Amino acid sequence: MERLTKRFNETAALDAVSLDFAAGSFTALLGPSGCGKTTMLRLIAGFEAPSEGRVLFDDALMADPRRQVPPEARGVGVVFQSYALWPHMDVAENVAYPLKARHIKRGEIAGRVGAVLDIVGLAGFESRRIEELSGGQRQRVALARCLVADAKVILFDEPLANLDMHLRSSMVDAFRDIHRRTGATIVYVTHDQAEALALADRVAIMSQGKVLQAAAPQEVYRAPANATVAGFVGRGSIVSGFTVDQAAGTATVDIAGHRLAARSAGASAGPVNILLRPEALRISPEGMPATVLDSIYRGPVHEVRLALPTLEQGREQELLIDSTEALAVGQSVHVSVSDAWIIPGG
Ligand SMILES: Nc1ncnc2c1ncn2[C@@H]1O[C@H](COP(=O)(O)OP(=O)(O)OP(=O)(O)O)[C@@H](O)[C@H]1O
Ligand SMILES: [Mg+2]
Repeated sequence: MERLTKRFNETAALDAVSLDFAAGSFTALLGPSGCGKTTMLRLIAGFEAPSEGRVLFDDALMADPRRQVPPEARGVGVVFQSYALWPHMDVAENVAYPLKARHIKRGEIAGRVGAVLDIVGLAGFESRRIEELSGGQRQRVALARCLVADAKVILFDEPLANLDMHLRSSMVDAFRDIHRRTGATIVYVTHDQAEALALADRVAIMSQGKVLQAAAPQEVYRAPANATVAGFVGRGSIVSGFTVDQAAGTATVDIAGHRLAARSAGASAGPVNILLRPEALRISPEGMPATVLDSIYRGPVHEVRLALPTLEQGREQELLIDSTEALAVGQSVHVSVSDAWIIPGG
């Protein structure tokens, strides 16, 4: 998509977004409610017309503000959160529906329906009625109905939002498998970061109609493009410090009078904001001095909030750290830092 904009009244739900989706890639769209994720999918699928900009599939124009290829001619499969199945039909009839609409021969339909039901793990459920299925099974019928049409592009809008944790994780495996088997280009909207990081080869972080960063999951986590992305993806602390020395890709920074090495995207003289992930911090005999603010048990580890000795603009600077032992509130500790990232643009 090129400089794609969609306005509803005054507000731009999508704001001049240029983004390419390589054939066979799996992109997860992440971002707060209302940031424009569904709008982007609807523009790709053709349910919405652009206000400005263009949608292209390879070199073929799908939409600009004057011309639109209708949704059914785009070869895009869509699975939304509310998976409109036909309740009066059985599983096989639901899945066969898109093929019947295209007047494909009966014998071929049966074969293709059987194959996709196998992929989604519903072989043997052909004659079950929809109302006799669990939520997760219904979700998989919707997925099979989308897959059977052999779409080259498949859009998912929070397809697992209705499911419990256990089902979600088994569906995540199913998605990965489907992507491998079909080679389709997938765009996948989710609120769940773990899901996005597990599935996608690229994560696009959106905010207020813009894409802030689109990169491999590890890169978005390790090297967020700005403070919004850093705060949105994963846990961590952003503290202020200043650069005392720098070389290509690294710098020495001073945080609360303590010097340490940090990765950086480019030149970063003077005051900087530094991202510290919990797994890069360890309580140790020496390092940055800090005081325990609180310590909360979260499953295998205690999540501990620490305060640095210096204030920043009158506010306490906090560090988040995982500790195998509970720490007492008010206790003085030292923290060693194995990795830090200077957030670009302050
Ligand atoms: N048909 C519409 N008419 C008017 N405004 C709309 C319409 N559809 C979306 N919007 C507005 O556009 C913005 C983006 O909406 P969108 O549905 O794309 O968000 P989203 O990222 O999918 O959010 P969520 O995570 O809550 O589903 C919101 O401010 C929304 O209110
Ligand atoms: Mg949405």
